[in-house]
Amino acid sequence: MHEQVKSILAKVRSEPSNILKALLALQEQLGHVPTEAVPDIAHALGVTTAQVAGVLSYYPDLRLTAPGRHLIRVCMGESCYANGCGRLLRELQDRLRVDVGETAAGGKFTLDTMSCAGNCAVSPTVMIDRDLHGRLLPSQLDTLLERYK
Ligand code: FES
Repeated sequence: MHEQVKSILAKVRSEPSNILKALLALQEQLGHVPTEAVPDIAHALGVTTAQVAGVLSYYPDLRLTAPGRHLIRVCMGESCYANGCGRLLRELQDRLRVDVGETAAGGKFTLDTMSCAGNCAVSPTVMIDRDLHGRLLPSQLDTLLERYK
């Protein structure tokens, strides 16, 4: 892991202002930001571990644990909220038997929320991995989840 982290950090310009950029690069490549990478990030950017930890704890989109094989994110933005995302979230919690931020047994799906996915015109939106699914109805969830099994 240490070498993998160093390899990812080597692609981020070594500047104190790049803490978030480094964290996002790690999450993009590893699926999460392992806490044991904090000293490596601090060293690579010339900042303190406290500064890295501060940014890491500030952004809720940064994950400290590895997600399941598929990451499901229900958009809770204004448009999606007005168009039933709450019901979609509840249905997903029931179907997967998890709460927000948890991974379903077997490690297949992690359920999370997000702010606006930029897909408001066809809300409510659910994002699975990098795929956006708009105008989603609770009755379509089983078919959708089946595609990712
Ligand atoms: S509010 Fe959900 S896509 Fe914009």
